[in-house]
Amino acid sequence: MEIIHTIEWMKQVSRQARLEGRVSGFVPTMGALHEGHMSLVRAALAECRPVVASIFVNPTQFGPNEDLQKYPRTFNEDCGKLENAGVDYLFAPEAGEIYPPGFRTWVNVEGLSERLEGKSRPGHFRGVTTVVLKLLEIVQPHKAYFGRKDAQQARIIRQMASDLHLDTEIVVCPVVRETDGLAMSSRNAYLQQDERRAATVLYRALDGARQSIARGERDALRLTAAIRETLRAEPLTNIDYVQLVDAKTLEPVTRLRGACLALLAVKIGATRLIDNLLIEERAGEFDTNL
Ligand code: PAJ
Repeated sequence: MEIIHTIEWMKQVSRQARLEGRVSGFVPTMGALHEGHMSLVRAALAECRPVVASIFVNPTQFGPNEDLQKYPRTFNEDCGKLENAGVDYLFAPEAGEIYPPGFRTWVNVEGLSERLEGKSRPGHFRGVTTVVLKLLEIVQPHKAYFGRKDAQQARIIRQMASDLHLDTEIVVCPVVRETDGLAMSSRNAYLQQDERRAATVLYRALDGARQSIARGERDALRLTAAIRETLRAEPLTNIDYVQLVDAKTLEPVTRLRGACLALLAVKIGATRLIDNLLIEERAGEFDTNL
């Protein structure tokens, strides 16, 4: 695996791969890699060559009181994991090259970016879409891989790719979980032992909703009320939001119909975690995916 630090060299390598007519894949990350990230890498390797991964802790997607400074950084371990998986290039730029002095251009996907995560974290998605567009411009991949763990992020990036006629196909991969159901996240490292135990409540709450839907529940208000009740029963939790929304518009729904997402954000102690349940109507039946 070749580690590339400069935009110029990354562009050179990308241009060459395109000229050679190869189908390239790209997995953007902020590092502190776990099996969730590695599942994206494997999906890319199954379909593309070369595969480029990036590690960049993007300052513009962190709010002023968020965890940018203490975000876990495990660069050497990450390199080992990517190398072993068979990644061809790791792009790891400096913040000063991505955002040079005088930088003043932003990409914002209006409407989808202000609700849910965007409401709790103003400016977050503007930072995400801006850096993802920059990375896609630099790497020029045929396919880019994202996790449904961050369902709103994936929806917003799809919208951006479509609105800006990007030459990159956006692929969204399933959520990878710990054996007790907790969705893998770099931020799980912040959890103290008792908090780690409590954190399974996100999964348990969504799994409860999944079971209700399997029994025929279609009412969004009853489903979200039950999710909140399960979350509240865990003393260490502090609910930020629980919402059942249309998977495309991210607007709240009152009844399940078409593709929907149950989205939640919860604080466990000082650590904010998110998770979601995908609910899809197929020929009158409801398929759920945790
Ligand atoms: P990061 O949190 O490092 O996540 C990188 C990618 O891994 C994202 O697409 C995310 O959805 C996916 N991912 C994380 N945990 C996952 C899990 N448990 N299962 C499946 N996929 C998972 O998301 C970001 O970085 C940044 O916002 C980024 C897109 C890199 C822009 O800075």
